[in-house]
Parts: sequence; structure tokens; C-alpha cells
Amino acid sequence: MKIAVFVSGRGSNLQAIIESQPFPDKVGISFPENFVEIKAVCSDKLECKAFEIAKKFFIPTFSVGNKLGCIRYDELVEYFVKNQIELIVLAGFLKMIPANLLKKFEGKIINIHPALLPSFGGQGMYGMNVHKAVFDSSAKVSGATIHFVDETYDTGKIIAQKCVDISTAKSPEEIASMVLEIEHQLLPSVINKFAEDKIRRIDNRVIMVN
Ligand code: GRF
Repeated sequence: MKIAVFVSGRGSNLQAIIESQPFPDKVGISFPENFVEIKAVCSDKLECKAFEIAKKFFIPTFSVGNKLGCIRYDELVEYFVKNQIELIVLAGFLKMIPANLLKKFEGKIINIHPALLPSFGGQGMYGMNVHKAVFDSSAKVSGATIHFVDETYDTGKIIAQKCVDISTAKSPEEIASMVLEIEHQLLPSVINKFAEDKIRRIDNRVIMVN
């Protein structure tokens, strides 16, 4: 399965996705069935640490937007179609996905959120803002959520969640690192389920078939 990953910063989830796949150490070896191949790493930024990771693995990077040096979204959609992208993964991307991309890839765009949606989500709830809100609420568990992306922040159907006991956490930073560890396990496993065509949307629910 060919995917595109949208990033904005550090890229640790991108790294986790890359590391979850057997890296072809010889040119031309045939990829195993259900191999997840990253065909593009995209960001609203012109440069970011995640781009450095992508370049290390020879993955094309795209700065997207209307700024100088950026590719326009309609051009990016053309690239995705030409390269048979089947899943778009938002991993730290903070901008809204424009309607043309949402429409073209309806049901094929997922996001990872560092909390247990629908709690602690929505506009402005990203990065440490999330973990500060969780810490201040005195919640005993937090975790990561992977959901489909729709036209508003963090409201698409939930695909998978994994929680972690934060009852002993002494700071939002401690929660952040506990949750990030969960993210690095959950995101690659859900992407692999898409590659194995094991994600189903039935009525109002999303389920993983065995
Ligand atoms: C992650 O915590 C993710 O849940 C959120 O943005 C962060 C991206 O971190 N959407 P990284 O760039 O993958 O390290």
C-alpha cells in the first residue's frame, strides 16, 4: 500500500512508520505483500525535522501551500493520484485539509491525536496544550486516538484508541512522553491494518476485522 504522510515538526511518528516496515537494504528486492511504502512526506513548513528523516530514507518531500517554494494542493492531489496513494496519514500536521483533497480521498485520510477523543480535542488542542489540559483535569488515563479526517478538527469516526495509566504522572511533559510511546505503537499497527484491508466502516462504527 502506498501512503503519504503529512507532518509539521519532529517527525517521530513518521520515523515509527518507517521503522515498522522491512527496509529494502538491496536495490530491487521485491516488497512483501501489504508492504507500506511512503511515497510522499508533506508539510505546511518549508523545512522541518521530519523532512530530514524523509530525506534520509529517500522519500520525496513536499511543502504545500500558497507560499513561494510550495506545491499547490491541486498539484499535490495530481501527484497522489499518479502515484496511486491509497492512504493519507496526518502525523502532527496542524492545518485543515482543503475540501478538494478531502473529497478526492474521502475515507482515506486518518489523523493521530495525542488524547482519548472526543475528550481533549478540537481547535487549539494540539501538542502540549492537550497534555496540559489532561494533567489539569486530573484524568487518570490518557492515550492516543486514530480517526478519520473530516472537515472539522478531531471529529471524524474513531478507528482505534490505546490508553495509558497516567495516575502517577507528575507533569504534562511526563504525560506527553507516555502518550508518544503509545502513538508509536498504535499508528503503525493501524496503517498495517489498512494495508491488509482489515478496516471496515459498518453503520455508525469503524471495526477491525481479523
Ligand atoms: C503527535 O503527538 C501527534 O499525536 C500529534 O502531533 C504530534 C506529532 O509528533 N498530532 P511527531 O512530529 O510525530 O513527533
